[in-house]
Amino acid sequence: MIRSAAMAIFLATTVIAHAAEGAKSKADPAKGKIVAETICVACHGADGNSMSAANPHLAGQVEDYIYKQLSNFKSIDGKPAVRDNAIMAGMAAALTEEDMRNVSAWFASQKLTPAVAKDESKIALGQRLWRQGDFKKGVPACAGCHGPAGAGLPAQYPRLAGQFPEYTEAQLKAFRAEQRANDPEKMMRTIAAKLSDVEIQAVSEYAAGLR
Ligand code: HEC
Ligand code: HEC
Repeated sequence: MIRSAAMAIFLATTVIAHAAEGAKSKADPAKGKIVAETICVACHGADGNSMSAANPHLAGQVEDYIYKQLSNFKSIDGKPAVRDNAIMAGMAAALTEEDMRNVSAWFASQKLTPAVAKDESKIALGQRLWRQGDFKKGVPACAGCHGPAGAGLPAQYPRLAGQFPEYTEAQLKAFRAEQRANDPEKMMRTIAAKLSDVEIQAVSEYAAGLR
């Protein structure tokens, strides 16, 4: 009896392990590396460490999040892309489904050289919003979805730790203005609508310094 139960557990875990391998083998980071080195390198760096705040870091980003963004930048059947960006629309248009999977796996597996918080005066406010949100304004804690250390949570929630503060600020303002509207269930648009410029800058600085 004990033996067969142990056997059943063994078999079940073996099946799960194989299923996980199957899912992983769909994306090939080595092929993704070639895409990164030939196309993405100019703006994001071959390893996803970008040199310019206009181009976000992709190293260590949540794999499924990268893939979702690439899909969102694509115009499908002539319809406007869900995430509107002229530069990335052109980039995504050139990628196959397989390329997008592979390059997402590549960047997700790279080590981020994080940005640093530059403005220490904003850290206290940023930390409060990150950890507690603002109950009176109905702003939830960022940590609840992006993780206490900002590392993101697979599959939906992106890493914000170590990202350029300028990029984070620009995205929050884009969500607030509804220029960026690809967030599921308006999660980010609802939150950003309640944040002032000062709060957006503070939380962006704080996230940049998170490790
Ligand atoms: C000419 C410059 C340029 C090139 C080349 C480029 N990108 Fe981008 N990428 C950008 C810019 C600029 C943004 C920010 C868009 C915005 O502000 O919304 C961006 C954003 C992204 C994002 C969204 C990241 C996030 O945190 O939401 C992903 C994913 C991405 N790029 C992937 C790629 C991949 C993969 C390649 C190569 C196939 C690539 N990019 C090539 C300029 C570039
Ligand atoms: C209820 C969950 C939730 C909470 C709370 C939350 N976020 Fe988000 N956030 C998301 C999701 C989901 C996305 C990805 C949207 C998409 O798919 O494009 C996101 C994306 C973002 C992005 C875009 C990142 C990029 O790489 O382009 C920024 C910036 C951001 N959130 C900042 C914040 C800040 C700051 C807070 C706290 C004030 C916060 N978020 C709270 C769910 C949340």
